[in-house]
Amino acid sequence: MKGVVLAGGLGSRLYPLTHATNKHLLPVYDMPMVFYPIRTLVQAGITEILIVTGGPHAGDFMGVLRNGKELGVTHLEYAYQDNEGGIAAALSLCEDFADNENIAVILGDNTTDASISDAVQRFREGAMVFLRQVSDPERFGVPVFDAEDASRIIAIEEKPDQPKSNYAVTGLYLYDARVFDFIKTLEPSARGELEITDVNNAYIERGELQWAELDGFWSDAGTFESLFRSNVFWAQRSTGRAAEDFDAYL
Ligand code: G1P
Repeated sequence: MKGVVLAGGLGSRLYPLTHATNKHLLPVYDMPMVFYPIRTLVQAGITEILIVTGGPHAGDFMGVLRNGKELGVTHLEYAYQDNEGGIAAALSLCEDFADNENIAVILGDNTTDASISDAVQRFREGAMVFLRQVSDPERFGVPVFDAEDASRIIAIEEKPDQPKSNYAVTGLYLYDARVFDFIKTLEPSARGELEITDVNNAYIERGELQWAELDGFWSDAGTFESLFRSNVFWAQRSTGRAAEDFDAYL
């Protein structure tokens, strides 16, 4: 399987930090943010990777990642997204790279210590999403489970006012090559973007969406609060120190 890291957008919720560089190159404890999703892919055996980026700081990626060898990447490509058309629009740029193979897609601001290795090994066709329980599901894509069969997702709602579960659809996805056909049928959402949630709903309509729960820490990092949470988690993880120990720094 090949891997795609989506690292575009302007990161406007993190201004003024993102006036200086792309969001995905900001520090999360001792590494640039984008190292974490790349590491998640490499640890699952996915070493052919395409990074989709854009905006005024796109060139910064090459300076930081170079050819990716330090991270275990065997083949690194970059694609430039012209406008901020949404996650599914960014993914549409990966069709040639995917070359009819299955792909693992991860958002460049998502960090997790969970392994997707087993899911990647087992995946054959359709789509797979990874869920995580959260206290603020209204910020995310939220799965609606079948009332009769709680193992079945019947829809995913993007940032619903009244979430029907307390799960977030995290920014890790596995897709077969049909994903690019589904993207071509999408219309922009109310926020003017091609939504990855609509892609996932296309798979649900065909009864071909599987899901698994991410086992471990997971966070996005697109807001100051979630960026800070990611930093605190990875600082604790890297140093092996308990949360209370960090009081010593204050
Ligand atoms: C995006 C997706 C959303 C998903 C989230 C995970 O949200 O649209 O479905 O739950 O990533 O990080 P956005 O970052 O565009 O707000």
